[in-house]
Amino acid sequence: MAKKQTKTGKVAPKADAADQLKDFMIDGLKDLYWAEKALVKNLPKMAKNATSKKLTDAVNGHLAETKVQVTRLEKAFKALKLKPEAVKCEAMNGILKEAEEILKETEPGAVRDAGIIAAAQKVEHYEIASYGTLATYAKLLGHKDVLQLLLETLREEKTCDKDLTKLAKSEINIKAK
Ligand SMILES: [Fe+2]
Ligand SMILES: [Fe+2]
Repeated sequence: MAKKQTKTGKVAPKADAADQLKDFMIDGLKDLYWAEKALVKNLPKMAKNATSKKLTDAVNGHLAETKVQVTRLEKAFKALKLKPEAVKCEAMNGILKEAEEILKETEPGAVRDAGIIAAAQKVEHYEIASYGTLATYAKLLGHKDVLQLLLETLREEKTCDKDLTKLAKSEINIKAK
């Protein structure tokens, strides 16, 4: 069976694979819990490497929000009568590795600032996709408390992304040019 699946390109599920949308939603919460905690550790580095005061403030402001987002996920686990659990998010791990590379590949100043914005927006877009998907599931499954928590964070991620676009377009990309 397994051999046949390999041939057809179909992936054999793990023994503990989710077979219900609720379980898949919980897997997503665990993934985001790891991702947000990784961001709490990594955003200070982005802020320290920024030259623009506005960018430093934006990253530090979002760091403060991110710390609250971690607690919001803890509340979501609690609402589902679960203990908070983090499972390594390979995507965020990769995005953060790339962010590190971007720092190494850019001279401090406007170009590095543009790079920091590029890296930060990849983070935000991953978060927007993840929170948006989980909010859709929570709504469908009737978990209103979880839905509210996810929508609150989703709003912050979208605002952060928009603010970064504005900062890039209005000054940082122009200086970097
Ligand atoms: Fe976040
Ligand atoms: Fe974020």
